[in-house]
Parts: sequence; structure tokens; C-alpha cells
Amino acid sequence: MKDQFLVRGLAGRKILRGELPVRGAKNDVLKAMAAAILFEDSLGIGNVPAIEDVGRTAELLSGLGASVERRRREVRIDARGISRTDLDPEIATRLRASIVLTGPLLARFKSVALPHPGGDVIGPRPIDLFLKGFRKMGASVEARGKRYALAAPRSGLAAADIFFEFVSVTATETLMLAATAARGRTTLRNAALEPEIPHLAAFLNASGARIRGAGTSTITIDGPTPLRSRGKIYRTLPDRIEAGSFLILAALAGDEIEITRCNPEHIRILVELLAASGVPLEIRPRAVAVVGNGRKRNADFAGFNIRTHEYPGFPTDLQAIAAVYLTQVKSDNVIFETIFENRFAYANDLVKMGADITVWDPQRIAVKGPTPLSGRELEGPDIRAGLAYLVAAIVADGPSVINNVYHIDRGYERIEERLAAVGAPVIRVAHP
Ligand code: EPZ
Repeated sequence: MKDQFLVRGLAGRKILRGELPVRGAKNDVLKAMAAAILFEDSLGIGNVPAIEDVGRTAELLSGLGASVERRRREVRIDARGISRTDLDPEIATRLRASIVLTGPLLARFKSVALPHPGGDVIGPRPIDLFLKGFRKMGASVEARGKRYALAAPRSGLAAADIFFEFVSVTATETLMLAATAARGRTTLRNAALEPEIPHLAAFLNASGARIRGAGTSTITIDGPTPLRSRGKIYRTLPDRIEAGSFLILAALAGDEIEITRCNPEHIRILVELLAASGVPLEIRPRAVAVVGNGRKRNADFAGFNIRTHEYPGFPTDLQAIAAVYLTQVKSDNVIFETIFENRFAYANDLVKMGADITVWDPQRIAVKGPTPLSGRELEGPDIRAGLAYLVAAIVADGPSVINNVYHIDRGYERIEERLAAVGAPVIRVAHP
């Protein structure tokens, strides 16, 4: 599917009005789908976004023999039918989240085979932390070229004390899941703090797990504990990255926009930075809004420096779209990307649109603004840069074409429909 988005730029006019509802979080729902492998009964997951990565993960699970039923915004997974544990490489290499399936498969079925996981090309994205953790839990790891075969002892995984040299979101989640079925007390140190992690842990505990400290840098998991949902539905968290992206679009091109069904606390750092920048915004229960913004000039907003950081710091997934914001305001600022090695692939295209961006090194760029942007043909290199291009095209003067929007559809549900509903001039051209 090589669909395109056609965008007629607003040339800086701030006319978007209405409600932008936020969907369930990609980086929450995919982990809940992986967790379903551990459950002795079926697991229902709610507030599921209609995004490509959910489809891919459903295909991986059903390819293993699990039953996966999708109804509107709910997915029900029953892992009791799983009869194989080798992940389909054609699918698993398309999304990083496939790696999270390895913990539950190894823990429950004592084996898993996987390709090196794929997903966004924002760095080498090694999996050494996963393999080291599994080895410490007693698993054997055999690397065969770009594939890995992992096997647990007949007696199953044993608890371990694991210190992550890097804070890793999916390594924390994957080993936390595996540890619920390991014998004894596992301790994860230097664990990630992202809100999706305590949210998942709380549901696991309500289903029989004994996890403490999720949301802090030290998590303990006592196992083995059988997990049963007993009909409880896992409610996927609102997507904080989508909420933050909508807030930046609203700041640049919105007059009166309310971003609903979100948790403003999960994007606190962005809210603080945009408020300090001069954006007239209001925090409401489960919503954040820009009000009376149409008469504000972007050139009067102040820029700010960004240093991406693990939660609750500035999310690396909002870095590209924040760069678009800085091109439109009074900025002479630096973005320092501390998490990934190659996350500025978008800079060159923004420069071709008219931005003043200097790439100092693979992890730092300088952005000077305001500079007008002109529409052009674009293709986003990853999910988040794809959305940044869409926002840049909406703000720009003149038409833009964004190619291969599969990247954007991986993480954002029918984004053009929701943006068009508030007046953004975006249409999809389907190329089945
Ligand atoms: C998760 O990726 C998210 N993806 C990413 O979102 C997000 O950018 C990232 O966390 C950071 O917040 C999912 O949850 C599916 P990491 P993850 O492991 O877990 C290094 C998006 O657009 N590392 O926290 O893969 C790694 O290279 C995506 O939704 C190792 O060295 O990121 C990176 O430099 C993009 N060895 C750092 O740790 C390992 O074994 C943090 O990566 C694992 C990671």
C-alpha cells in the first residue's frame, strides 16, 4: 500500500478549530498483546487504535497459533492455541515491538526464534540487553546470522538480578513479563520509567502477578504466578506521543483546538515548554487545549533548547515534530538527541522546505527561526518524522505530497480524517 497524503499548506495561517481525540497508545497496546501469551484464559484489550502495528502483531500471534479476534476498538487474544514459537521474520522485522513477544514465549513455552527485530531506522537498535537478561535467567542463546534461537531449561526460567547498562523501555517490559513465570524473585535495576510500564504491571498484578516498583528504576517480580484476566479488560493508555504531536500542530496552526481523551500529565514537559514559549494553552481533565491562539503570531513565540531523555524527560519520539515547531518561532536553539544515534534524517528535507537547520553531529542540530516553509514532495524516514513532515506541510506555503504514508499509518489511526475534521487541508490518495 503506497498511499500518499496531499496537503495544501496554510502558509502560517492559524485556523484549525475543534476537537482532536487521542487514540490508544501504540507503545502500550503492543505490549499488552505480547502479555496475552502468558495468560491462562483469554485477554481482552480495549481502546485499541486502528494502526498497522496492531495488525502486524495480531498476524505474528495468530501465526504462532493464538486466536486473535478484533472488533472495532477491542482485541481478544487466547494464547492457549499456540503451537509454535518461531516469529515470522517477514513480519517481525517490520516493527521493534516484536521483540517483546520473546519474553512471554520463552517463559511459557521455553523456546523462541526471532530475526533481529526491525522497525524504525533511527539507530542500530541492538538487543544485547534482552539476550544478557535471558542468559542470566538460564536461557541459552544461539545466534545464526540475523536470527536468534533462545531456549529455556526444562525446569523453566529462573529468577535473576539484572542491571541494565542502558535504560531500555522494551527490555524492561520484556524481562518484566518473562519474570512473572520465572522461579523466584527477579530484580530489574536501572529500569525504564515510562508510564506504560506501571500501567501494564498494575494489570498483571490484578491478574495474579506479584510485581513491585514498576514506574521506579528498580522493579521486583516474584514468580511463577499463573495469570488470568477473569474477564477484566486491559484499557490501553492514551497515546502521549500523539497527544504531544497534536499539541504542537495546534500551537502552530490552531485557533481553538481541544485535544481530548489524553493524560496531560504524561506530556507535562512539553506543556511546560510550550506555555513558556508563549502558546495560550489550558489543561483540562483528560484534555489540553489551545485557546485564542489564532491571533497570536508564531514569530512571537520563544524557542527552547531540547535534550531528549527517558521519561519524564523530553520524549525522543517528539523530537522531530518539536524541530518543526522551532523552525516557526523565534529560535536559535539546539536539539540534543541522547537516546538514538540517527534520529535527524528528517533535517535535510526540512532544510529543502526552507528551514534553517545545521547538523552539528549525529546527535545534535541547531535550529534558527522563524523561517517560512514551502511545500514539497516528502517521504518520512520513520513513524515520528512522518508526522513531523505532515505538520510541516500543513504549516508551509503551497502544496506538499507525502509518499509512503505506511510509516505514518503504523502509529497513527486514520490521521488525515481527524486532522481534516479540524480544518487541516489533508487528503489521502490510495494506491492499493
Ligand atoms: C521504545 O523503543 C519505543 N518503541 C520507541 O518508540 C521509543 O523511542 C523508545 O522506547 C525510547 O523511548 C516501543 O516501545 C515499541 P530503548 P526501544 O530500548 O525500547 C539502546 C516509536 O516511534 N539499547 O528504550 O527499542 C537503544 O539502541 C518508537 O514509537 C541497547 O543498546 O528503545 C537506544 O539507544 C521509536 N541495547 C537506547 O537503548 C538493547 O538491548 C534506548 O532504547 C536495547 C536498547
